[in-house]
Amino acid sequence: MALLLWLSLSLVVGVQSSGVRNCHPRCHCEVESFGLFDSFSLTRVDCRGLGPDASMPIPIPLDTSHLDLSSNDMGPLSDAVLAGPGYTTLVSLDLSSNRINKVSPDALSKLRYLESLDLSHNNLESLSPSCFSGLPLAEVDLSHNNFQEFSMDVFASKVNSEPLSVDLSHNKLVSVSTNLHGKVVHIQSVNLSLNLLVNIPSMVGLPLRYLNLDSNPITKIKEGAFNQLKDLAYLSLSGLHELQDVEPNSFKGLENLQVLDLSNNPKLKSLSPAVFSGLNSLQELNLAGSGVVSLPMNMLTHLPSIRSITLGQSIHCWRTQKQGQFHRQMGHVEHNEVLQCNEEGIVL
Ligand SMILES: *[C@@H]1O[C@H](CO)[C@@H](O)[C@H](O)[C@H]1NC(C)=O
Repeated sequence: MALLLWLSLSLVVGVQSSGVRNCHPRCHCEVESFGLFDSFSLTRVDCRGLGPDASMPIPIPLDTSHLDLSSNDMGPLSDAVLAGPGYTTLVSLDLSSNRINKVSPDALSKLRYLESLDLSHNNLESLSPSCFSGLPLAEVDLSHNNFQEFSMDVFASKVNSEPLSVDLSHNKLVSVSTNLHGKVVHIQSVNLSLNLLVNIPSMVGLPLRYLNLDSNPITKIKEGAFNQLKDLAYLSLSGLHELQDVEPNSFKGLENLQVLDLSNNPKLKSLSPAVFSGLNSLQELNLAGSGVVSLPMNMLTHLPSIRSITLGQSIHCWRTQKQGQFHRQMGHVEHNEVLQCNEEGIVL
């Protein structure tokens, strides 16, 4: 009992914020230690909005794992900015709101443990094909930039066939990777909302789980646009004000997709049932604020896992048991299920 108590006490997270060595006077540094004997620690450094006279690279403590450098008016990201000691251990880095319009091909190359990168709210139009090369990036936020087109090839590392080690100081397993045309790819989450994309970027075979393409001037979603994204669980295609057409089989291949957000696409007037072909795991479909006002009767056969569909202003539809069929037999459940909405005349 005493041992248990001691064990659970020593597992409690300890936070130490004063006296972190090599903390820049205008940054806020915090060390979180946890585990038995405080054997693991995480150093978080917050250097947001340091002002125009801050000279880069900002010195940060050795072993820093999370760094926030947002709102520092950095401009083009040169090789020198992220090169100091302490940077090599970063697991996450926030470079949002910095007027970054260019990332030098080697600017991030020292960050060999970097898993999460926020480059949102910048002025990027393109990225050099090798700028993420060799990084175990799993999550990238590129929202609020000026991309007119985007090549997912930036996430494929050219070399890097050595197995990534398990880094216990971050108490975290380096994420599972997928092999794409002989290249190692870790990327799981990409946010490209609020850019200038006119087409869906090509993403064949990426291990993505989350993809956000909201608020881009995309006019059409073509057959096979999301081909082979079999791990994708969440797809957001909301606020596409120019979107008029979603071709049949557009979502084919998204066999694990659970949530599809097609809300606030006012020019999208109709969807043929074949649009939903292949969405066998889809549970939630959001069509609120789109031009789609009715659903085909046979929707459930196209979306066998669907639980909820939203459309119009506040119309909700859900799967329910057909009235009067109380004696359902095991194995024949599907035949008795229908889509019911909180308004009449939606399911045609
Ligand atoms: C994607 O970006 C948008 C706009 O910056 C933001 O509102 C949204 O929360 C982001 N999604 C995730 C999962 O971070």
